[in-house]
Amino acid sequence: MSCDSRSTPQEQLRSDKLHPPAPPMPVINLGHLTIEPEARSRVVEDIARACHDLGYFQVINHGISQSVMDRAVEAASEFFKLPSETKQEFASDDIRRPVRYGTSSKDGTRPARTFLKHYAHPLSEWLQYWPEKPPTYREDMGKISAEVRRVALQLMEAILEGRGLGKDYQHEEFQRGLQLLQVNCYPKEPEGDSAIGLAPHSDHGFLTILLASCSGLEVLDRSSNTWRVVQQPRHALHVHVGDYMEVLSNGRIRTVVHRAVLNPGEARISMASIHSFGMHETVSVAKELVDEQDPERYKESSFSDFLDYLMSNADKKRMSFLESLRI
Ligand code: OGA
Ligand code: NI
Repeated sequence: MSCDSRSTPQEQLRSDKLHPPAPPMPVINLGHLTIEPEARSRVVEDIARACHDLGYFQVINHGISQSVMDRAVEAASEFFKLPSETKQEFASDDIRRPVRYGTSSKDGTRPARTFLKHYAHPLSEWLQYWPEKPPTYREDMGKISAEVRRVALQLMEAILEGRGLGKDYQHEEFQRGLQLLQVNCYPKEPEGDSAIGLAPHSDHGFLTILLASCSGLEVLDRSSNTWRVVQQPRHALHVHVGDYMEVLSNGRIRTVVHRAVLNPGEARISMASIHSFGMHETVSVAKELVDEQDPERYKESSFSDFLDYLMSNADKKRMSFLESLRI
């Protein structure tokens, strides 16, 4: 699958016509995080500002080789090309299944998105459930998962440091934390139709790192309340914060609403890696960020509570899980 970061004339048109200019996309050079302290504190500041102002940014020089990224996209693409019966073996409505395949469509006919969701950390626990076909899937997805998780933990430390909580804040919980991989396949946009592949939502964990074969992701820009097209330069990874970042920071960092639109030029593969605490570990507002002027704004909860909420008949259409946590 090709990954062309230049926008096609249609994309250009779409972004010029419907999207007023948004603030520049922050691009963070992660190589600078590990060199001398002065360079590190500048990067930490840049990350903190991006999280506070926008909730999203891109990272380059993250240490994941292009071949590891390309092979993961290729393995995902091969999986979605398998015969339907093979993929259906993973189909389930039970969101607690370790691996789950499914499709969603706008009008109930043509799928707008096909997905495979599975846990990826600790790998030794989950790998046995992953697809065995294509034969490269486990190895190539395993490699990228571990690498992306390394980047996520590095970013989390920088964000916590930037918020004044210190880079080792709840270190053990993050180390033990879960990683959920959502692998998505979107068809090429049908002619004359601007189709939504994935409806607007926010992600539940602290951080999501997204790798995609071409553009299609859009984030809601808060200042203008308009959708912003996210370009996917070949080696960059897109990062946005999720609901738990909003909870932990007591609302100082806000979750990012985003959606996926179909690419007019080609079918698209994306891999969203979601990072959170362990399944039953509770996430609560950092006490350090609470005082009389700034009381606790969110109830504590675990990832398991979130899954229960999704499965329950609670009026989930009316209220997101994050909204249900607001005090
Ligand atoms: C997701 C997601 C965006 C995309 O899987 O949660 O937001 O571009 N994906 O596929
Ligand atoms: Ni998402």
